[in-house]
Amino acid sequence: MWWLCTGRATLDHMSSMVRNDPRQYDDLAAEWWRPGGGFELLHWLAAARAALIPPATRTGALLIDAGCGGGLHAPHVVGKGYRHVGVDLQRSGLRAAAAHGVEPVCGDVTALPFATGSADVVAAGEILEHVTDLEATVAEVCRVLRPGGLVVLDTVNATAVSRFITVTAGEWIGVAPPGLHDPALFVDPKRLSAEFARHGVRLHLRGVRPTVTGLIGWLLWKRPGGRIVGAPSKAVLYQGKGLKEGLYQGKGRKEGVTT
Ligand SMILES: C[S@@+](CC[C@H](N)C(=O)[O-])C[C@H]1O[C@@H](n2cnc3c(N)ncnc32)[C@H](O)[C@@H]1O
Repeated sequence: MWWLCTGRATLDHMSSMVRNDPRQYDDLAAEWWRPGGGFELLHWLAAARAALIPPATRTGALLIDAGCGGGLHAPHVVGKGYRHVGVDLQRSGLRAAAAHGVEPVCGDVTALPFATGSADVVAAGEILEHVTDLEATVAEVCRVLRPGGLVVLDTVNATAVSRFITVTAGEWIGVAPPGLHDPALFVDPKRLSAEFARHGVRLHLRGVRPTVTGLIGWLLWKRPGGRIVGAPSKAVLYQGKGLKEGLYQGKGRKEGVTT
């Protein structure tokens, strides 16, 4: 049903766009896979997030990529044995994701179009700071996870320093495309952990940052290939992982996390 998603933004749309309007991704569609392009940092984050995902332990294991955008996760999980399904509101991103082997599904992460307990892994990369209903999104991520299933995520903290770096300075120097973020939606880690805990997932969070040389190389010379590494603080960007409590009894998989 992904072809029912919104098409390319029109000029009328653009003129009425407010911060965090997902139609902006339509105009930026060429950036998803452009080496050294506007979404370069997302490539580094996708690689770091995918490193948290172990190989599938059963045939037909499902990886749901929530808010998949252009499917930047794809090259990093392709050999791990999952059926990689990407969910996004925007058709332009889903097209790019499909071209890189992701199964595209048009949908809203606040109402994921998947059965309860169907996913072995949910990846929620750089999506939580874009949703207007964080509680519903977390509830949905946890609902679709199997007992023992894994969530991996990264997002932007709701601090003054992250607002400055991501929006005030970030949009000016080109770290983030202008208007893409609404700082009011940035996500406090304590709030996020509490929401996941309410739904049976204990999150482990750590601060992350791009390497200084990678960031400088990209900003000054549009050089791709930087990396994400651990940071001493979660004040700007942070990464998380957690297992859904319970023991999966399905075919071909016995391990899980007991409560
Ligand atoms: C910053 S991009 C991240 C894309 C991808 N996860 C990555 O890390 O490369 C945010 C994506 O979330 C999508 N999005 C925003 N709100 C959404 C929602 N409520 N449901 C589904 N997708 C959404 C946007 O269309 C966009 O593709």
